[in-house]
Amino acid sequence: MVTCVGLVGHPVHHSVSPAMHEAAFAHLGLDWYYLPFDVHPDRLGDAVRGLGALGFAGVNVTVPHKEAVLGLADLVEESARVVGAANTLLFRDGAVQATNTDVAGFTEAVNLGFGPATLAGARIVVVGAGGAARAVVGACIAAGAHRVEVLNRTIERATNLVASFGAQRDASPHAQREASRTQLYARSTNVFAEAVVDADLVVQTTSCGMDPARTQTPVRWPRRVSPDTCVFDCIYAPAMTLFLQEARAAGARTHGGLGMLVAQGALAFERWTRHTAPRTVMLEAAAKALHARA
Ligand code: ATR
Repeated sequence: MVTCVGLVGHPVHHSVSPAMHEAAFAHLGLDWYYLPFDVHPDRLGDAVRGLGALGFAGVNVTVPHKEAVLGLADLVEESARVVGAANTLLFRDGAVQATNTDVAGFTEAVNLGFGPATLAGARIVVVGAGGAARAVVGACIAAGAHRVEVLNRTIERATNLVASFGAQRDASPHAQREASRTQLYARSTNVFAEAVVDADLVVQTTSCGMDPARTQTPVRWPRRVSPDTCVFDCIYAPAMTLFLQEARAAGARTHGGLGMLVAQGALAFERWTRHTAPRTVMLEAAAKALHARA
């Protein structure tokens, strides 16, 4: 029997997720299809209920619907609750289940790129305070980072993000609170050069520098940083942002966002199909689709 999954966003034409998932289905010989749907925010409820009624196994959710879908879910998993957004829905037994694979996807990509001990006990600088930053900060706290500094152009947004994670921690059971000792700070991007000096990991989460605005970057790197500094950009197009170019010129080790894109997709694939996702196949398909788009 044919099974369908898909993507709900507005717009969706630029997405490489269909190519990535279709390649995985073909590789495993699954009779599954991944269909992109451009859904206007006014029709999101109708679309989600309709896809469930049509027998879809689930969907990915992208901009601008990631927060709104939480209100349509019967069950919101911890990962989505912590971030306040979902990127994946599962339709099970007539119920809509919301989860967020961006959180575990980030952890998986960082562990693959820099070694499994990277996040635990690390001193981390996060640039940006939007939705992507929330997933990254959630992942860093869950992994037991020592310190997370959130740097944003608009300091109020960084302050709000840090306060909301702090409030969640204060409301959590005592044992959980004890286990999670990550120090959280909100700062302006003006202090970036000083903040990265003793950082183990620097994560760029803003859209600044994304195609077609390749000549933009949200912060400027100092001339030299420790060669042990790991740098991660959530942007995957271009593969090498100006932010990463400058980080590499300063002596840091760098990774683009393709690994995170594949990891979040692979984790959604595994939730829907209950098969291990063929990550190398998905990576190749995503890279090819990005190349064709460029
Ligand atoms: P997303 O959900 O994809 O993270 P978002 O919620 O719109 O997107 O957040 C965008 C982030 O990119 C914000 O941190 C934003 O900074 P402001 O809060 O100051 O707007 C940041 N950003 C976008 N363009 C930027 C630029 N040119 N320079 C610096 N930061 C930028």
